[in-house]
Amino acid sequence: MTITNELTGKRIIVTGCGRGMGAATVRSYVKAGAQVVGMDIDDTNGNTVIAEANDLGGQQAHYLHVDIADAESVASAFAQAVQILGGLDTLAHPAAIQRSSDAGNVSVEDWDLMFAVNVRGTMLTNQAAFGYMKDSGGGSIINFGSISGQRPEVSAAAYSSAKGAVHSWTRTAAGTWGAQNVRVNAILPAMATPMYLEAMARANEEQRNAAYWQNRRTIALGEEYGDPDRDLGPVMVFLASDASHFITGQLIPVDGGQTSVR
Ligand SMILES: NC(=O)c1ccc[n+]([C@@H]2O[C@H](COP(=O)([O-])OP(=O)(O)OC[C@H]3O[C@@H](n4cnc5c(N)ncnc54)[C@H](O)[C@@H]3O)[C@@H](O)[C@H]2O)c1
Repeated sequence: MTITNELTGKRIIVTGCGRGMGAATVRSYVKAGAQVVGMDIDDTNGNTVIAEANDLGGQQAHYLHVDIADAESVASAFAQAVQILGGLDTLAHPAAIQRSSDAGNVSVEDWDLMFAVNVRGTMLTNQAAFGYMKDSGGGSIINFGSISGQRPEVSAAAYSSAKGAVHSWTRTAAGTWGAQNVRVNAILPAMATPMYLEAMARANEEQRNAAYWQNRRTIALGEEYGDPDRDLGPVMVFLASDASHFITGQLIPVDGGQTSVR
């Protein structure tokens, strides 16, 4: 898959750049000619991904530390990023955590952690981005939901509830900020990343079996989770580009058919 140079001049923040879909998104944006600031709570991985992206050519990527659950951290990192970039056109926001939990005994601590990172983190990063985009002609915000937020998820009660909240937030923010030409969409992915592989490693045989029938068997295109560079990168480029200027408030599965071909 060839990614064209269609993001030349675009100024982009990518959260969760240290691995998985955030790392693939940084690489795709740099290849497409964008200027990128990648952010993560994991500075070791984050710095490595950005250094490797710059080796692709162009020296267009920078790294900054952020904890998306912390308001001051988000405000400070976004202010620095906008200074480096000279403005902001796109926020790609894959940063999140995944934990297993059961509806009957999920703890208050696990629930609050999940909502702090995945829901508050989405609200804080989106608000910060909107603040910079609203007076400069608009922009594109790309959140990350999940099929878990659309169906019962017996092994991940708090995670699926939090992703449902991300879906609602995405629609609400899109409705509120459309007047300023700020678009807000959410990707619902199925990609082989460290998060997915760790969840599989935590599962016992029965859960892995159930996951096969519920999650992999239903991927019409090959019954395998996607590769984030090959299968997600081009979609991230499209949503950051002007080609997607009339798309907002959408929950967009990039999952080989998992969400709706069943
Ligand atoms: N992998 C899948 O198939 C799948 C399926 C559905 C939804 N998703 C969603 O897609 C997105 C990307 O997932 P992934 O598989 O690439 O995840 P991942 O775990 O591989 O990467 C997540 C990144 O976010 C960073 N992060 C975590 N907490 C943070 C914080 N407080 N502040 C800043 N950075 C933080 C991590 O350090 C990591 O680098 C997530 O929102 C996830 O919930 C993934």
